[in-house]
Amino acid sequence: MEEVLYDDKRFQVFISDKEISTIINRLAEEINKEYANIQVPLTLISILDGSFIFMADLVRNLTIPVTIQFVKLKSYEGTSSRGEVAHLLKLQESLTGKNVLVVEDVIDTGLTIDVFLEELHKQNPQSVKVCTLLSKPEVHNNIVNIHFTGYELGPEFVIGYGLDINGQGRQLPHIYKLKVG
Ligand code: IMP
Ligand code: MG
Repeated sequence: MEEVLYDDKRFQVFISDKEISTIINRLAEEINKEYANIQVPLTLISILDGSFIFMADLVRNLTIPVTIQFVKLKSYEGTSSRGEVAHLLKLQESLTGKNVLVVEDVIDTGLTIDVFLEELHKQNPQSVKVCTLLSKPEVHNNIVNIHFTGYELGPEFVIGYGLDINGQGRQLPHIYKLKVG
């Protein structure tokens, strides 16, 4: 299998572009079904930077009416057990009364999404659900309620399809995992 080198580390193909596309078709079907009867457009919120490619592919498979917003978050493990999430790019519109679907690339510890969801709820949206391409249940122990999951993996580090290592590797069409040994 094809191998790539980033940051002196070797990565091997883990989920191919074809498999990603199958996963996205399935997720889109689930979302189209779940929101089939909504009266107002679904507000999709993409968490940058990692989810930009996933969002672009997902949205083109949705047949329900949607609007799209982008936020940019950075999580810090603070001295408090919760940590903190800094907003580098804020929401552009109010979410009061809206049906919201948060779109993430990967949920690892769950800290980023957990803090962000708490902030979203303060705006009194009608509903909030989460869609993630990748989820690491062994790491987050299901502290976050994820409604649409693309693929569950172990505590492995992955890159490609939007995911990076020190800012690089986002343009890879497949998802690669760090090779051990
Ligand atoms: P959290 O631990 O769930 O808060 O994840 C925070 C962020 O870390 C994610 O949104 C990703 O941007 C990044 N991240 C987590 N796991 C990986 C990985 O395996 N590869 C690349 N980035 C990751
Ligand atoms: Mg991310």
